[in-house]
Amino acid sequence: MRIHVADHPLVAHKLTALRDQRTDSPTFRRLVDELVTLLAYEATREVRTEPVRITTPVAATTGVRLAAPKPLVVPILRAGLGMLEGMVRLLPTAEVGFLGMIRDEDTLAASTYATRLPEDLSGRQCYVLDPMLATGGTLRTAIRFLLDRGADHITAVTLLAAPEGIAVLRDAWDAGPVPVTLVTAAVDERLNEHGYIVPGLGDAGDRLYGVV
Ligand code: URA
Repeated sequence: MRIHVADHPLVAHKLTALRDQRTDSPTFRRLVDELVTLLAYEATREVRTEPVRITTPVAATTGVRLAAPKPLVVPILRAGLGMLEGMVRLLPTAEVGFLGMIRDEDTLAASTYATRLPEDLSGRQCYVLDPMLATGGTLRTAIRFLLDRGADHITAVTLLAAPEGIAVLRDAWDAGPVPVTLVTAAVDERLNEHGYIVPGLGDAGDRLYGVV
């Protein structure tokens, strides 16, 4: 599994503001959106393109355009929804599928409660959005789901990752036939006894949308 940690002062600046417990929900949502747009630039480094002939006002030339089939962006509900606009801003022609996953707060096990995805993902590049890679259970289940439907290239985009979650993904896909890449703004120290990332930013879904 390839891991890319965004190393950029603007990413670090926005992430620090996100972590700050005084940051209110509207500001938090705006910062997530901006941060994901920066991460999307890295995450799409291997997006497939095909040559296209065009004519500029000066001459004919060959450029590129995104290849078919369209990439699929998959936010994991609920917190991944806060990352969607930032991602499709750079990939406006992508299709969007949805995966609703919930983590049992006692066992920390992830389960799927809703899906809206194409049945056949053969040949599709998929971008999975989930702000927090904590235990790794949610992302592992989500990636497995996409691979089982035929996806042949997976990039997970997170704001923060814990070493424990990275180890789980590495364990599952270090040697797999399908390339799996993690793009994250930072790797934090560890998980606490409740499965929260330390120092982290708290519950990403609650900070985006409130405690509902
Ligand atoms: N999910 C969150 O929202 N925050 C964490 O720290 C871990 C999982």
